[in-house]
Amino acid sequence: MTSLITQNPIKITQITDTHLYGKSSGTLLEMNTNETLNHVIELVKQNENEIDLVLATGDITQDASDKAYQNFLDIVATLNTPFRWIPGNHDNATVMGRIAEGTEASEKTVQLNNWLIILLDSSILGQVHGKLDKTEIKFLTSVLRAVEKDDSVDHCLVSMHHNPVPGTSAWMRDIGLENGQEFFETIKMSSKVRSVVYGHIHQELDFEHEGVRCFCTPSTCIQFKPKVTSFSLDRVNPGYRSLQLYADGSIDSEVSRVSGEIFEADYNSPGY
Ligand SMILES: [Fe+2]
Repeated sequence: MTSLITQNPIKITQITDTHLYGKSSGTLLEMNTNETLNHVIELVKQNENEIDLVLATGDITQDASDKAYQNFLDIVATLNTPFRWIPGNHDNATVMGRIAEGTEASEKTVQLNNWLIILLDSSILGQVHGKLDKTEIKFLTSVLRAVEKDDSVDHCLVSMHHNPVPGTSAWMRDIGLENGQEFFETIKMSSKVRSVVYGHIHQELDFEHEGVRCFCTPSTCIQFKPKVTSFSLDRVNPGYRSLQLYADGSIDSEVSRVSGEIFEADYNSPGY
């Protein structure tokens, strides 16, 4: 586990659902995902300084190819900051692990000052919905047990790809984390979990659930319209989230979106 003493507040940048392809010309619903990610990364460079950690919360690629992951690594490297990634439903965790070998990218815990960042794999290969399998629940339980006795950690932020709370649109009912309730029961055993950070449903959310602050973050490409019955793309621009974690456990967070650009997509598509 990496353990670092850094600034207060700690600064985290979350980028999610980049959906890259091996070919940089690859498009998702007619949107070029390589191009939109580059716009988002430029925005991060303009807005943020002294980032402690970049969290990439899954759907790193659309085609799970080595080349797509390498494209992602090349783009993120230009931020010159530590980063961690976790797989989403479009990823292949085995490929990601192989590509990250010898680096800290797939490390599952990072301590920054008195905060512990915990990264979970909620992906099921070939399935859209997610689940924290027995191994992940066991891992989370053992980390949280250790944290309860660890005076150097006062607060935890847990991150995964899938939404542990049902999405805001009817069509999203079956695509979230299958065992969201088990997840919240597990984190309830800890007095130190303050926040859950995820992606997957391509929209901005900031709310409290079971006493924990939950953040969902827009994709760096297509956006899903919230609170609708059927699948529908939202005409809002790609973006990222910044999180400032304070020593007293409080959190400030904002979403920033690319402005001044119009990104084409198939806005009438019935699904993705
Ligand atoms: Fe996604």
